[in-house]
Amino acid sequence: MKDETRMIRLGAAPETLVKTVGPPIQRGSTVLMPNAAALYDDHQVTYGRQGLGVQATLCDALAAMEGASGVTLYPSGLAALTGAMLAVLKAGDEVLVCDTIYKPTRRFCERVLGRFGVTVRFYDPRQSPQALVGEAGPAVRMIVLESPGSLTFEMQDVPAIAALARARGILTLADNTWAAGYLFKPLEHGVDISAQALTKYVGGHSDVFMGSAATRDKGLLDALEAGIIHLGWSVSPDDAYQILRGLRTLPVRLARQGASGLAVAEWLAAHPQVVRLLHPALPCDAGHALWSRDYAGACGLFAIALTPGPQSAVDAFLDALKLFGLGFSWGGFESLAIGCDQQLHCRDHLRDYPGPLIRLHIGLEDPGDLVADLAQALAVYASHAG
Ligand SMILES: Cc1ncc(COP(=O)(O)O)c(C=O)c1O
Repeated sequence: MKDETRMIRLGAAPETLVKTVGPPIQRGSTVLMPNAAALYDDHQVTYGRQGLGVQATLCDALAAMEGASGVTLYPSGLAALTGAMLAVLKAGDEVLVCDTIYKPTRRFCERVLGRFGVTVRFYDPRQSPQALVGEAGPAVRMIVLESPGSLTFEMQDVPAIAALARARGILTLADNTWAAGYLFKPLEHGVDISAQALTKYVGGHSDVFMGSAATRDKGLLDALEAGIIHLGWSVSPDDAYQILRGLRTLPVRLARQGASGLAVAEWLAAHPQVVRLLHPALPCDAGHALWSRDYAGACGLFAIALTPGPQSAVDAFLDALKLFGLGFSWGGFESLAIGCDQQLHCRDHLRDYPGPLIRLHIGLEDPGDLVADLAQALAVYASHAG
């Protein structure tokens, strides 16, 4: 063999691998098949886009956590929501989407689904399950839930909606990112597809995008898998490994961040500059009874309404924070804050709150330090709000 040929064959994958704690990260677009017959064998992995060992290991782990028979992976959380809808909706269908849905999911429903002949109606999540499902017309194919909403935290009676919808042959899809597939398990409560942004708590380190959709239904799993194949979506093995690494510490991070979040929220509840807490784990919250009934805990994401003040005072409060980063994501180890009012205008129902809304994500820092930071920033707010 000439050097050019030898060089192509150098460094090929070893026949066997030693056993490590995590799965090996195997990178590959081309998959070498053992023989000619295997090339067209649908039961074998023939191309890397379908995902290799580490992606399959992650799917199995997520399925075990969510009580699913199968899980599909997407390049982002948003793609999991849009992918699940694209996989099952068709022209002529109507989809009912909760008004508090993550804004880019709403944008997809408004700008993309309509082009494919799917009608979208945004419903008030405070509506009773009976009214929501009872008033659904014959074209309604799917109800999309997000409980609690990730900006204003209204709770929905997910089991009741899922049961009524199933009786009518309507599918339910839940964005379960707040509960991370761990604090609440939608499939155990009758939901057909449980989707989440693994980017948030499961990844846990604010450095990787991924989404998942989990189901117990064989027909739906086939549809979700076909949707991914048709759209050509793929997730990298390195990203899948990162998510799997995050999954192992999810319970301890959630326990700590949920407890710190509650401690900070309770302190805020007594602050004169705070008029309302939007946190379903607090007894004062309208969704508390549903949360206590269905959830095993809380994560570290909630919102507060401040005493009325101009946007300039809200900006001064945010700019005064030293330990909270200003950023749109959540679920990582670090504390974050955003103002929310700019995101409420697109809603059909839930726009009015008693004052400017701030969303806080409580990280793994010491909660006392976070409270001290909030105290000094609220003093700045008071001086600007007048
Ligand atoms: C509730 C919710 N769902 C979905 C997403 C989308 O996740 P990703 O950023 O991975 O697309 C987000 C992101 O902020 C979110 O907050």
